[in-house]
Amino acid sequence: MNYNNTDFNNKTILITGGAGFIGSNLAFYFQENFPASNIIIFDCFRSESIFSNGNLQSFGHYKNLIGFKGKIICGNINNLNNLSLLSEYKFDYIFHQAAISDTRVYDQTIVMETNINSFYNLLNIAKKNNAAMIYASSGATYGSMPSPQTEGHESPENPYGFSKLMMDQIASQYSFKNPEMVIVGLRYFNVYGPREFFKGNTSSMVIQLGHQILAGKEPRLFKGSDKILRDFIYIDDVIQANIKACTPKKNGVYNVGTGVPRSFQDIADILQQELGTNFETQYFSNPYDGYQMHTQADISSSTKNLGFQSQISLEKGISAYIPEIKCLNGTKNK
Ligand SMILES: NC(=O)c1ccc[n+]([C@@H]2O[C@H](COP(=O)([O-])OP(=O)(O)OC[C@H]3O[C@@H](n4cnc5c(N)ncnc54)[C@H](O)[C@@H]3O)[C@@H](O)[C@H]2O)c1
Repeated sequence: MNYNNTDFNNKTILITGGAGFIGSNLAFYFQENFPASNIIIFDCFRSESIFSNGNLQSFGHYKNLIGFKGKIICGNINNLNNLSLLSEYKFDYIFHQAAISDTRVYDQTIVMETNINSFYNLLNIAKKNNAAMIYASSGATYGSMPSPQTEGHESPENPYGFSKLMMDQIASQYSFKNPEMVIVGLRYFNVYGPREFFKGNTSSMVIQLGHQILAGKEPRLFKGSDKILRDFIYIDDVIQANIKACTPKKNGVYNVGTGVPRSFQDIADILQQELGTNFETQYFSNPYDGYQMHTQADISSSTKNLGFQSQISLEKGISAYIPEIKCLNGTKNK
């Protein structure tokens, strides 16, 4: 699938976080559609270190990259020696996805160090290489701002969302000082799709509910889930946004959502329809404070400046995802 006329063949592409969900999908997109592209993945993969919330410190997994034919560098973006391994390449594009992607990590030191400090170094690498920098921001920058969430109106409610907002500010200042560079931030909303499984309990509710249902269990949702609305976006639309971000009308940070809020109940219902089941939903109390109750990306600026528009409804995305959900059912997340 080509989203525009950019030819990535014979281009050198760095994907940080390429062993993770979105990064590995980007890698396979380039490999399949631009076989002469030179793809380099930089990722620390998973160690056995965990945060106090019980989740792994990084989710990268070799199984996301089975069949990948490009180069892999195992390294930590926080480590300058590791980053120096990139100096032998001349990059045309950098897709910076590596981050602590877990929104419930409250060790502020490591979140800020990983998501903010490393960004300065990666921007400097982009500048030195004259490479376009497309980086992952997040809908978490908005916190509980009323819908539709619009660029310029942020109020993060966790260290993760704050770190991403700081990246946006750094990018904006860097772009101001270096107007010849392409620097685009993409605020992904709730992404779902193949290769997210190894994010464990931080993966989307689509795969988590899918596996509950396939295990013969009733889908479990927070009370009032028909009124908790989110902007769920399928991975292919996220790839589209990354490709279009390489040729923006202007640098900036742009929302990447469908623009259509849907409920968690919708996900459970669509899954049941796809899987041919008819369980009663089980409801339980939401234990979280500051839970986002309604997200809906305003994508007018993304459409105007990137030409981005979501093409995949929740129904279509879940349907395309079902074979992988079935295939991974019962697999150990190790
Ligand atoms: N998936 C979503 O819904 C979503 C939404 C908003 C923003 N994002 C952002 O998109 C990007 C990709 O997210 P994802 O869902 O693919 O998450 P992911 O956790 O699957 O991918 C992140 C990758 O970064 C790697 N990584 C983490 N710390 C690293 C470090 N110090 N050095 C090198 N590599 C490191 C991990 O091993 C992992 O492979 C992240 O920046 C995330 O914050 C994702």
